[in-house]
Order: sequence, then C-alpha cells, then structure tokens
Amino acid sequence: MMAALAELASFLSDRIGLSVDQRRQASIESRLAPVMAEAATKDLRELVARLRRGAEPELIDRAIDAMVTCETLFFRDRLPFQAMRTVVLPTLREAREQARTLRIWSAACATGQEPYSIAMLLDEMSRQFLGWRIDIVASDISRAALAVATVGRYSQFEVQRGLSTPLLLRHFRQDNGGWLINEHLRAAVDFRRINLTSDFSRQGVFDVILCRNALMYMDVARRRDILVRLAQQLSPDGYLMLGATETVVGLSDDFVPAGGYAGLFRRAGSSKRTLRLVANS
Ligand SMILES: C[S@@+](CC[C@H](N)C(=O)[O-])C[C@H]1O[C@@H](n2cnc3c(N)ncnc32)[C@H](O)[C@@H]1O
Repeated sequence: MMAALAELASFLSDRIGLSVDQRRQASIESRLAPVMAEAATKDLRELVARLRRGAEPELIDRAIDAMVTCETLFFRDRLPFQAMRTVVLPTLREAREQARTLRIWSAACATGQEPYSIAMLLDEMSRQFLGWRIDIVASDISRAALAVATVGRYSQFEVQRGLSTPLLLRHFRQDNGGWLINEHLRAAVDFRRINLTSDFSRQGVFDVILCRNALMYMDVARRRDILVRLAQQLSPDGYLMLGATETVVGLSDDFVPAGGYAGLFRRAGSSKRTLRLVANS
C-alpha cells in the first residue's frame, strides 16, 4: 500500500505539481474511491499503474478532479477585491490610458467564483472603463471545476458565500433550484484548461495575474518554477495576486509586495512608479 501511495504521489507531483501528504491515506482513499469504482480497479496499485501507462486520459482527468481541492467562494477574503478596486485597477487605468486595454488572468479559477467576482467588480466600475477592451481569462486543471464555471450555475449555498443580495439579484437569475449567472457576465470570462506546471507562455502577457490558493498545495521547487514563469507573463508594471496566506518571499526575486495588501505583488523594479502614483493621488 505504501508503495502505491508513493507512486500516486509521484504521478500527481509530476503531472500537476500536487504535493500529496502520504500520511493522509484514509482521505486519499476516500477521494479516489468513486474513481476506482467507476474504473473497476481492484486496488490503488492497479489504478496508479493505469494512470502511469497514460492510455486513459479520461481516467487521469477523473483522478485529478478527485485529488485537487477546488474550495472557493465569491469575493474570497474581501481585501484582495478591495485592493483591485482601490489600487490595482485605478493604477492600471492611468497607466493604460492610451491603449485602453487590460488583460486579467485568474490562473486557478476552480468553479469560477473568482473570475466572476472580478467581472462583477468591473461591471461596478464600468463607467471608469468606458470604451476599454478588458479580457478576463480564467483557467484551471480540473475539468469538473471548469464545467461548473463555464455554465455559471451555483447552489443557494454557494451564492450565499460571498455575494450580497443586491449583487445576487443584479447578476444572477433563479434556475432549477440554483442561480445562473447572467449571460453578459458569463460571456465576459474566457475559460481555458491550463496546467500551471506546463508551458503557458502562449497565453500572452497579462496586466493582472491572480494565482490564489493553488501554489499552497505544491512543493517549494514547483512554486518557484511557476512564479518564474508567471513573472514572464506579467507586464512590467502588472500585478500578481496570491492567496492571503501565500507569499513570494524566499521563492522569487521577480516580485515585490505592493499596495500594502497581503498577497499583492508587482514585478521587481516597478515600485518607483507605484510610489509616484500613490503620492500623486
Ligand atoms: C483552492 S482552489 C483556489 C480557487 C480560487 N483561486 C480561490 O482562491 O478561491 C485551487 C485550484 O487550483 C487548481 N489547480 C491545482 N493544481 C493546478 C495546476 N497544476 N494547474 C492549474 N490549476 C491547478 C485546482 O484544480 C483548484 O481548482
């Protein structure tokens, strides 16, 4: 059993960077039980062998869906969205006055609450961005999570987590016992499947990258590698937003804390410009 667990951990680490705590055997088994039942595997060793063989992409996707943690909610942690409203978007609005374009990437979007929260925030600020082109790209590794995100239908419980009643009524309509996001917000987000451990350089350069509460499930080497590559996709004066408990400290010299908000960073070397903008405001 221990050998199979170690094999599973190594497979998931190679494939998606997930750092599996092998001591949590019961939790791993219960996450994978439905996958194993559906695939009619007799034990974990057989499942891992089939995953490793690579001939069954759907089985691999289901195992990944079962093992990742897709916990999320609308406007999670509040303060990052306050930072977006008061620091990130105003600063970029001034900096992009000529081009009037912004690209925002929610790089581990789970079931979509994070990018839809940004879309709601931009809707609220729409008068400040009249005539702008704003792209919101949202991605995740989990097919199951992306399927929910793409449809934009949430349960009563899910909308109660983070959404005020006015926002709920403004942007959602009741649908089959749940709440369906309005088409204009749904269409504002471009969902893609992107594995952060793979090359994502073709996605282009972004002005804001949110990579929140995903790196915390990865080991230090993997976090470093992803941060190096995220820095390459971020415009020189762009912002990186990590989870409230995540940091670049000790992992990357490419970023420095910004705006006085935990989890908010800019590319190293861009801080002089931020200070000037804050001083002028
Ligand atoms: C806890 S959720 C975070 C959701 C949202 N960013 C938030 O903070 O509420 C973590 C997400 O990271 C995704 N994830 C984990 N490893 C990934 C990888 N290698 N590539 C892309 N997404 C990954 C998971 O599928 C999961 O949806």
